[in-house]
Amino acid sequence: MKSRLIAGLIAASFASGALAQAASAPAPPATPAAGTAAQARAFDLQGHRGARGLAPENTLAGFERAIAIGVTTLELDIGVTADGVPVVHHDLALNASLTRDASGRWLTGTGPTIRSLTLQQLQAYDVGRIDPASRHARLFPGQQPRDGERIPTLAAVFRRADERGARQVRFSIETKLDPRRPGDTVDPEAFVDALLHVVREAGVSRRVSVQSFDWRTLLRVQQLEPAIPTVYLTTRSDSFDNLRDGAWTAGLRLADYGSVPALVEAAGGKVWSPRYDDLDAPGVREAQARGLRVVPWTVNDPVDMVRLLDWGVDGLITDYPDRLRALLRERDMPVPRVLHD
Ligand code: G3P
Ligand code: CA
Repeated sequence: MKSRLIAGLIAASFASGALAQAASAPAPPATPAAGTAAQARAFDLQGHRGARGLAPENTLAGFERAIAIGVTTLELDIGVTADGVPVVHHDLALNASLTRDASGRWLTGTGPTIRSLTLQQLQAYDVGRIDPASRHARLFPGQQPRDGERIPTLAAVFRRADERGARQVRFSIETKLDPRRPGDTVDPEAFVDALLHVVREAGVSRRVSVQSFDWRTLLRVQQLEPAIPTVYLTTRSDSFDNLRDGAWTAGLRLADYGSVPALVEAAGGKVWSPRYDDLDAPGVREAQARGLRVVPWTVNDPVDMVRLLDWGVDGLITDYPDRLRALLRERDMPVPRVLHD
């Protein structure tokens, strides 16, 4: 029943060309993802965009900082450039609060989309510091700048983790698309294909999860690489509710399933990642009873962390992995190994 549902969803979500491609895709590895069974039970301490509260987001400096603190998982966002390269960046277009051009001037408004620039063009921009005049700077007063940081490729993040000896660290990779703005990114099929190509080339499939608010990409990952866990992001805020209609959820409608965990389970998810203030204790219990892990985002206040830990969540995504790590130690919970450089 479930596989019929997912097949139907994929059929509804993609054009026939994409389906043909999926059908002829290489078979998934015969062995299940080694190492993931033990990690699946461990608490998942995720550094959001690296360690956004402490170092420039989605940069190699930020990921190094998170690795030095000791995280289970590096959370990161990706887009795909004009020349088809997956790069690590949160917004579909360059964010003026974070970006300086080749002459060192802050962008004065939203910049060009990632999709419209080649990797070489993108490398001209510096994303190592928050514009001190921006609202963003007030949100993260403790972030230490690292001038000269560029938007890294996804491949470079894998390499840097390896160079730092972080060969156990996992990567939760968020596909950043917006179904309301299809022209601003490559399409979901091309997006996932580019992502999986880099993951396979780096040989890190066993350490990767793919997350998204745009569930079309998750269904394609499930189709092409069933051993890679998919993480279903949800948000019910006034400004962004990805469950309001079927637009973000590949046509799935919450009203047909009765609860968000039931919806995520039906779609084939392994992990439910809700906005933390949408979550309650019964929601955690229901999701776990359905076999889902629950990993809310983005939790920065220790008071919230404690409440969610008391509810038994399976992991937390935070801009301050140092705070969460300290709390886990206080509670005598295992913490990931620290790597000294
Ligand atoms: O991992 C989920 C979280 O990162 C989603 O929010 O906007 O920070 O990518 P955002
Ligand atoms: Ca993200």
